[in-house]
Amino acid sequence: MLGTELDNSLLEDILTQVRPLIGRGKVAGYIPALADVSPYNLGIAVCTTSGETFSAGDADSRFSIQSISKVLSLTLALTRYQESEIWQRVGKEPSGQPFNSLVQLELEQGKPRNPFINPGALVVCDLLQTRLTAPRQRMLEVVRQLAGMPDINYDRDVARSEFEHSDRNAAIAYLMKSFGNFDNDVITVLQTYFHYCALRMSCAELARTFVYLANKGQPLGSDDALLEPRQARQINALMVTSGMYDGAGEFAYRVGMPGKSGVGGGIIAIVPGEMCIAVWSPELDAAGNSLAGTAALEKLAQRIGRSIF
Ligand code: DON
Repeated sequence: MLGTELDNSLLEDILTQVRPLIGRGKVAGYIPALADVSPYNLGIAVCTTSGETFSAGDADSRFSIQSISKVLSLTLALTRYQESEIWQRVGKEPSGQPFNSLVQLELEQGKPRNPFINPGALVVCDLLQTRLTAPRQRMLEVVRQLAGMPDINYDRDVARSEFEHSDRNAAIAYLMKSFGNFDNDVITVLQTYFHYCALRMSCAELARTFVYLANKGQPLGSDDALLEPRQARQINALMVTSGMYDGAGEFAYRVGMPGKSGVGGGIIAIVPGEMCIAVWSPELDAAGNSLAGTAALEKLAQRIGRSIF
């Protein structure tokens, strides 16, 4: 099923090719605790649906997964709610706006365009706050199980740093509350959201964690499905249209896979039926997506001849 060429040396080769791009992007500066991360980190890992793993560079170094966690919170919500209960509060359309924009939210009566922009993820966290007694603990349990790593944890410094600079996300949440699309205490939900974003994971752990999206909702090393096959397909569809924010079109064109980025510089990408790929390079492009990370995915897609299109 896999091209014979997918191995560690291919991944090494790809990192060598994209390393010169370091210096062309910008490390996220709006969360002070993230601004200190070295731009020279560069890692890539692949986990196949049969459990084969490949990696290169800083694939085992943990970093702040940030918005990649929005896929996990949506997954958790799908296990706790009827689909209609989720989609009456958040849409499925690309936003065409930066991930933390307020403008569209005001014009569209407090209903976020999709679950991957900050307003959408905050609504999803609000839903989780309602149905889970300990949403932070539950997320840790799920992630540790999926990754097979019991010591995965939140980076408390990053979570605190975001909380201290939470004006924009707080404004988003209060705006949604004013439209009746937010049930719980805003500060409580913000804390949950910031902790989810502050999960520290490596590329190798991310690739293993998210392989359920390549495997019809079935995690690695477990007999229990996390999602129905249809739900895994639906999340992949949303990742294609909204996972890379305003860069979704460019990413579909260049990489051709469902993807989700985080401002920590991580990206996960899915080859349905085959594998999950995770990359990390902290410098971002103008849309807030890892610059060298996207280039690495583009090269890998070409070399192994994979695209969903
Ligand atoms: O709320 C925020 O702005 C960050 N915690 C997450 C943003 C993010 O990762 C967007 N992704 N590229």
